[in-house]
Amino acid sequence: MLGINEPYVFPDEVELDGKLRRMVEEDYTKFNRNGLPDDIGGYVLKKYGIGLDGRICDIRLRNPFGKASGQLSMNLNQVKDDLEAGLGFIVLKTVIAQDESGKSRMEDWKTRESRMVVERIRSKGGRIGWTVNWRGRGWSKSFEDYLDFYRASLEMGDEYEVPIIVSCMFHVPSKDEEFEVKEFEFTVSKLCGVYLEKRRKFDMLMEVDFSPTLNLLDDVKDPENVRRWFDEIPKLIRNYGISRMKVGAKIFNVVGDDEYQKEIARMALTSDFDFLTFFNRLFDPVKKMAYGGYDLSDRNLRVMDELRDEIANYISSQRTISGTGNIDSGRMMLEYAVRGCSSGQIHTFFQIPLRFYGMMRGSRTERALNELIFNPKKGLIPFMIHEGFGRFTDIVENLKRGENDAGERDHR
Ligand SMILES: Cc1cc2nc3c(=O)[nH]c(=O)nc-3n(C[C@H](O)[C@H](O)[C@H](O)COP(=O)(O)O)c2cc1C
Repeated sequence: MLGINEPYVFPDEVELDGKLRRMVEEDYTKFNRNGLPDDIGGYVLKKYGIGLDGRICDIRLRNPFGKASGQLSMNLNQVKDDLEAGLGFIVLKTVIAQDESGKSRMEDWKTRESRMVVERIRSKGGRIGWTVNWRGRGWSKSFEDYLDFYRASLEMGDEYEVPIIVSCMFHVPSKDEEFEVKEFEFTVSKLCGVYLEKRRKFDMLMEVDFSPTLNLLDDVKDPENVRRWFDEIPKLIRNYGISRMKVGAKIFNVVGDDEYQKEIARMALTSDFDFLTFFNRLFDPVKKMAYGGYDLSDRNLRVMDELRDEIANYISSQRTISGTGNIDSGRMMLEYAVRGCSSGQIHTFFQIPLRFYGMMRGSRTERALNELIFNPKKGLIPFMIHEGFGRFTDIVENLKRGENDAGERDHR
C-alpha cells in the first residue's frame, strides 16, 4: 500500500494561502515564459526573505542544487548550460584512475556508452518515479581529454564563481591485494597539476566514486574490505595531492537489506573524507544495472534516519554531506536537508521528457531549476515558506542542534 514504511516527513505538495501563493505562482509562470533571473538567490532573498545558499565543506553555494556526476557533465556545453542556468555546483563525469603508461586496473569501467533510456519506475511502496537505464560506466575518452575538460570546466566555473568537482574512480583491492599506488600517484598528481595552473576561486574538490557497479565484486560483501578502502583511499589521495584540496566520497548502495547499508554509511561517517555524498544508485544484480526512483530515495532517507547522531557528529563548519537520489523537487531536497544534506546532486530529473517541465524554452537545466525552486506546489520556496524555514543551511544546522525532529514531524 502506498505510504507504508515510507520515510518522508513532508507532504507531497503544499498549498500556500492567499498572497504568498499568488506571489509564487506569478514567479513560476513568469520564469516559465521569460527564463530565470540571473541572480536567483538574490531575487529570492529580496522577494521572500529566504536564503537559498547551500554548502559543500566551507564553500558557499548559490543554491543547493547541483549536477551529479554522469552523462550530463561530460562536455563543456553541458557545463556552460548549467552555469548559465544557475546551478549551485557541478560534479564532472567520473574518470577512471590510471598509471603513467595508461594502464588501469579498472579498465573495464572505461566502457563506451550505450544508449540511455529514461523510463517510469514503480517503487516497492507503489510510487511512480523515473529511472535511467544505462550500462556504461566511467569516462571513455582518453585521460588527456579529461584533463582538458577539467581545465576548461574549472576556468568556466571560476568565471561564474561556481565550484566544479572532479570525480575519480580508483581500483579497490581485495583483502590480500595492495592498492594500485602508481595509479593514485599519476591520476591525482595530474589532476592537481591542472588545478595548480592558475589561481583558483575555490579549493580543489575531488569526489571519489564508489560506484554501485562495485556490487559486481564479491569484495564489497566484506565490511573489512570496505573499511580499508574508506581508511586508505583518502590518505593515498592526500599523499599525492595538494594542501588546498578537499577529498570527498560518493558512497554506493549495497544489494540487500538496510542493515549492511547502515554499516557502510557508519564507516563513511567515521572516515577522514572531507565531504560525503549519500548514496549512489541501487543495483539490480540480475540485470546488472543501476537504477533509481522512489526505492532509491526511500532507502537513502531511511538509512539516514537511523544515523542521525552519527551524521550530526560528522557535519561541521568544514565537513558536509550532499544528498543524491530521486531529487525531483524542492520538497525532496528538503527531505535530504532535514537529515543533514546541505546540497543535492541530481541526474535523472534533468533527463525527464520535456513536457514534464513547465518552461517551454531554455536549457533542460533551467527548466528543471524553475521546477525545483519555484514550482508552486513542490518547489523549495513554497515548502520553505510553508515550513517556516528562513535559510536553507539553517535546516541542516538544526540537525546538529537536535532540532530537526524528522521522526516527530509527520505529515502523512
Ligand atoms: C546515466 C547515468 C550515469 C551516471 N554516471 C555516474 C558517474 O560516472 N559517476 C558517478 O559518481 N555517478 C554516476 N551516476 C549517478 C548519478 O550521479 C546520481 O548520483 C544518481 O543517478 C542518483 O541521482 P538521480 O536519482 O538524480 O539520478 C550516473 C547516473 C546515471 C543515471
